[in-house]
Amino acid sequence: MSASDQADRLVTAARQARDHAIATYSHFKVGAALLLPNGQIVTGCNVENASYGLTMCAERVALYKALSDGHRDFVMVAVVADTADPTPPCGPCRQLLWEYCGDVPVVLANLEAIKARHQMAELLPYPFDGRLL
Ligand code: THU
Repeated sequence: MSASDQADRLVTAARQARDHAIATYSHFKVGAALLLPNGQIVTGCNVENASYGLTMCAERVALYKALSDGHRDFVMVAVVADTADPTPPCGPCRQLLWEYCGDVPVVLANLEAIKARHQMAELLPYPFDGRLL
């Protein structure tokens, strides 16, 4: 399958995951999807709660689901929100995606189309990571 077909598949999965978002307070629903080397996809959505601060982004939900199932290699990330401008991962999610996914492509889409593609190294250009410990 071409990288473009894989991106389309991943975005479709992220859109479906977004339907499960619990965005009670912000009303800003996000879906994320991680592509594994074997073609399998792990998804996540944002989960908010009344304390606000304990909200978990869609990207980290997907990442923690995948890591807790034993997956350690990732080849692409997709993030979907219902906005004209693409929604990139927040700072904490960039830190975690960098550490566990490395310099993978990150596809940003809305409900209609792919709006942007970035590499993780571009989204987090001067990272703190295990190499510095
Ligand atoms: N959010 C995500 O899930 N991922 C992002 O990339 C940006 C923000 C969520 C967190 C919160 O539930 C809502 O969007 C508004 O910030």
